[in-house]
Amino acid sequence: MSEFIPLSVPSLQGNEWQYIKECLDTEWVSTAGKYVDKFENSICDLTQAKYAVACVNGTAALHIALKIIGVTSDDEVIVPTLTFISPINAVKYVNASPIFMDCDEYYTIDCEKTIEFILTETEFKNGASYNKRSGKRIPAIIIVHVFGNAVNVFELLSICRERNIRVVEDSAESIGSYYIQEPLLNKYTGTIGDIGCYSFNGNKIITCGGGGMIVTNDEEYGRKARYLTTQAKDDEVRYIHHEVGYNYRLTNIQAALGVAQLEQLQKYITIKKTNYLLYKNQIDNIEGLSLAEVPQFANSNYWLYCLRIDQEEYGKNREELLKFLLENQIQSRPVWYLNHMQRPYQKCQNYKIEQAYIQLERTLNIPCSVNITSRQIERVIEVLQNGKK
Ligand SMILES: Cc1ncc(COP(=O)(O)O)c(C=O)c1O
Repeated sequence: MSEFIPLSVPSLQGNEWQYIKECLDTEWVSTAGKYVDKFENSICDLTQAKYAVACVNGTAALHIALKIIGVTSDDEVIVPTLTFISPINAVKYVNASPIFMDCDEYYTIDCEKTIEFILTETEFKNGASYNKRSGKRIPAIIIVHVFGNAVNVFELLSICRERNIRVVEDSAESIGSYYIQEPLLNKYTGTIGDIGCYSFNGNKIITCGGGGMIVTNDEEYGRKARYLTTQAKDDEVRYIHHEVGYNYRLTNIQAALGVAQLEQLQKYITIKKTNYLLYKNQIDNIEGLSLAEVPQFANSNYWLYCLRIDQEEYGKNREELLKFLLENQIQSRPVWYLNHMQRPYQKCQNYKIEQAYIQLERTLNIPCSVNITSRQIERVIEVLQNGKK
């Protein structure tokens, strides 16, 4: 029986043992310690964000981002339907409602349709945008750099600024991706809106086991993020709290892992790009299959690879191919079930969703771990060739 090839698993080949051992040896295992500070500083160095606040995971980071912006009950937040559910749930955590948008060819939010929605379906009065249909305020949008693909957000950013809609970037999957076109030239995903959120979950390009980071260039947002993620202490000695805070701080052990992983990020991105090209050269020659392009206006971190299936030509649909790959010990995964169809969100507004259905039906993510070998990639390609009817 051939060995199992997983979809995306961590690669721990740097200073992880050494840094974690140091935490254990020095007994700095909790939320204070040099690695938490170092991790935050290293993220600022990489992304050029002015402020970074480490937290327990990416979902907590998104929750806090919406709190800081002041999203509350009776507000609405624009979100993409095609994404992991976490940013949508974050909207619910602050008792607001999502409005779902379609996706584009790169699986990220369709910015053209979103602009159309803002211009035609909202009105701007007293310094805020309101949904004409519901009458509710729309203080924020969450864009998601899905699979490491930077969102084509150039124009949308300025419309949001004009309409006083704050931009939260869910950069959970896109650490290391940056724009290579003006006016965002050399800007990292996570730093172009008002607040960016990263995830260091085990399946991401680098991991803390579990972990997240809030980044911003706004001093007050940075201060508030630190305050809210550390129980909102107004007097640390006497335990005075003027607001409801959260126990969302990352531990030193997790941060130690994060620091060691971050040291290897550039190497990992290079490996991921090489493997992407290795796959792409051969998959694009299989009739009915192709590997989705990444945006040309950014340098991507190539987190997950998207296999596109033309069922007519290939002779198998997504589910059949998923099953066939698994029978051959290869893990693959469809993109997330669309959020506007998930049970908690079925009654929420959605706007002209078309492309997302197509992308869902025709896409499978295929193995992309940093430590996948070229032999394993060859085997995936061979199985894909054999799968054609
Ligand atoms: C797009 C997206 N947003 C948010 C998250 C949430 O991050 P976490 O798992 O660290 O809470 C993830 C991944 O897990 C994600 O893929």
